[in-house]
Amino acid sequence: MSETTLHQLCQIYTELTFDEIKVLEDVASTLQLYADLNNAYMFIDCMMKDSDQAIVVAEAFPRTSEAIYENSVVGKIVFESFEPGVFYSYRTGKKSLTNQAVTQEGKTVEQSVIPIKNNKHQVIAVLISEEEIYKHMPISSSYKNVSFGQEELKEVLGGHSREVPLVSDLLMEIFLLTDKEDRLTYSNPAGVNFISEMTQLDKIQNQNILELLPFLQSIYDFKEDVFVFDLTVDRKNLIVKKIRVKEKEQLKGTLLIIQDVTELRTKEKELMMKSVVIQEIHHRVKNNLQTVASLLRLQMRKGFPEESKVYFEDTLNRIYSISSVYELILSNSNADDEDVNIIELTKKVSSTLVLNEYLKKVNLIIESNGNKILTTSRKAVSIALIINELVQNSLKHAFPEDVEGDIIVSFYSNKDFLELHIFDNGVGMQEPKSSLGLEIVHNLVLNDLNGEFRYVPVEQGTHAVVTFPISSEVIIYHEKENINS
Ligand SMILES: Nc1ncnc2c1ncn2[C@@H]1O[C@H](COP(=O)(O)OP(=O)(O)OP(=O)(O)O)[C@@H](O)[C@H]1O
Ligand SMILES: [Mg+2]
Repeated sequence: MSETTLHQLCQIYTELTFDEIKVLEDVASTLQLYADLNNAYMFIDCMMKDSDQAIVVAEAFPRTSEAIYENSVVGKIVFESFEPGVFYSYRTGKKSLTNQAVTQEGKTVEQSVIPIKNNKHQVIAVLISEEEIYKHMPISSSYKNVSFGQEELKEVLGGHSREVPLVSDLLMEIFLLTDKEDRLTYSNPAGVNFISEMTQLDKIQNQNILELLPFLQSIYDFKEDVFVFDLTVDRKNLIVKKIRVKEKEQLKGTLLIIQDVTELRTKEKELMMKSVVIQEIHHRVKNNLQTVASLLRLQMRKGFPEESKVYFEDTLNRIYSISSVYELILSNSNADDEDVNIIELTKKVSSTLVLNEYLKKVNLIIESNGNKILTTSRKAVSIALIINELVQNSLKHAFPEDVEGDIIVSFYSNKDFLELHIFDNGVGMQEPKSSLGLEIVHNLVLNDLNGEFRYVPVEQGTHAVVTFPISSEVIIYHEKENINS
C-alpha cells in the first residue's frame, strides 16, 4: 500500500490534519504484517468531509490465503447499512465485533473494528480486520452459496425484479418460497444450509415444505395472508414471517422469511444477567462506602483531639462525593444506564457541603448554561472529587466569620472541550500554599480527565477553571434552560 495514496486520499476527502494523517501512515505501515499474521484482511477507513460516508484509505491482504477481495478497495466509499460496525466504532470510540458481517462485496466475514485516535483522544479513523468465516462453519461446504429456484421467485414476485435473487442471497435471513402445493421451489443459501442442517437431506428442492419442516404446519394452517410467528424448535429461536402471494384471489405461492435469533436471545439473556449483576455491584459499592463513612463517624463520636476533626470531616466529604456517583447511577430509570448526569452530581455534592456549613451565609448557584453532561462512572468519580475540593475550599477559606457571599459553579462547552468554573466572591487567595486538597484536584484533572487546572486572576474572590476534552466518556447534549439552585 502506497503511503502517498493514503496521504492524497486523506487530503482530498477528509478533514484530517497533517499530524493526524501521519498517525494513520504509521498504522498503515504495519498493516501487511498483521494481515499475514492473522490471515485477515486489514483496512483503515476515515469519515469523509461533508458526508455521512466513510472511505477506505489503506488496505493489506494476507499473502497466504485465497483472496476474498479480488481487487483493491482503497478509495471506495463505505456505506453504513453494509458496515454498521465501522460507524459504531467511529461514533462511540469503542471496539466493535461483528460475528457475521456481509460486506459490500457480498462476502460473509468476521469483522473487528477499533478506533484510531489523535492525541486529543478523538477518533480520526477506524482499523478493521476481516476474516472470511465460511471456512469455520460446520455445515457441509457443498451447500456454500447455493440457491435454487431464482426463476420461480421472479415469476411469483412479478417477473421483472431481477435484483431479488441477488438481494436474498446476501441476506442472513432464510428466504423460502413454496408453490401452491406447498412444494419448496426457491431457497436462498441460508435456507439451504438451515434445511439441510435440520433434515440431514441432500435433495430438498420441490419437496413438500411441511414434510421437510413439520413445525411450519401451524403457520401454513393459519388463515392470515401475512403473519409473523415466534417459534422455538430444537433449541433454536426463530422468527417466521409468512406472506401468501396471490393473483386474482388464487394462491400462487407462499414466501417465508425465517430469522434465526437464537444467538440474539442468548445474548439478550446474558445482557440482562449482566445488568442485574452490575446493578448489584453498584449497590454494594455504595453500601460499602456508607459503611466506611459510618465507621469514621463512630470514631469521631468516640472522641479525638479537636485538631483532627477537620481531617475526619474532609475525608467524610470525599467519601460522600464518591458515593453520590453510585446513588445517581442507581437512580437511573433504565437499569442498563450507567451514565452519570454531571449537573445533578454537582448539585448533590455541593449543596450537601453548603448545608453542612449551616452557619455560613453562602448562596450556591449552579449554572448548566444549557449543557446536559453525561459521563461514565469513572470520570464522574473524578469530577465529584474535584467539585468537592474546590467548593469546600471556597466555603472554608473564602468567607471567614460572618462574611456573606456567593459560590457559582458554571459549565461551558464547545465542540472539543468542557470547562468547569468555580467562582467565589470571598477574600481571595493569598500566597497559594497547596495542601492535600489542591494536590487531589491537580492529580485528577491531569491524570483522569487529561485536562488542565488553573486559577484565573480576579479583582474579588477566587476563580478556578478545570478544562478537559470531550471524549466518548464525556457526552454533552445542549439544552435551553439553566438549572439554578
Ligand atoms: N476559594 C479560596 N479562597 C481563599 N483561599 C483559598 C481558596 N481556595 C484555596 N485557598 C487557599 O489555598 C490553600 C490550599 O488549599 P488546599 O485545598 O490545597 O488545602 P486546604 O483546603 O487548606 O486543606 P485540604 O487539604 O483539607 O483541602 C488553602 O489553605 C487556602 O489558604
Ligand atoms: Mg481544601
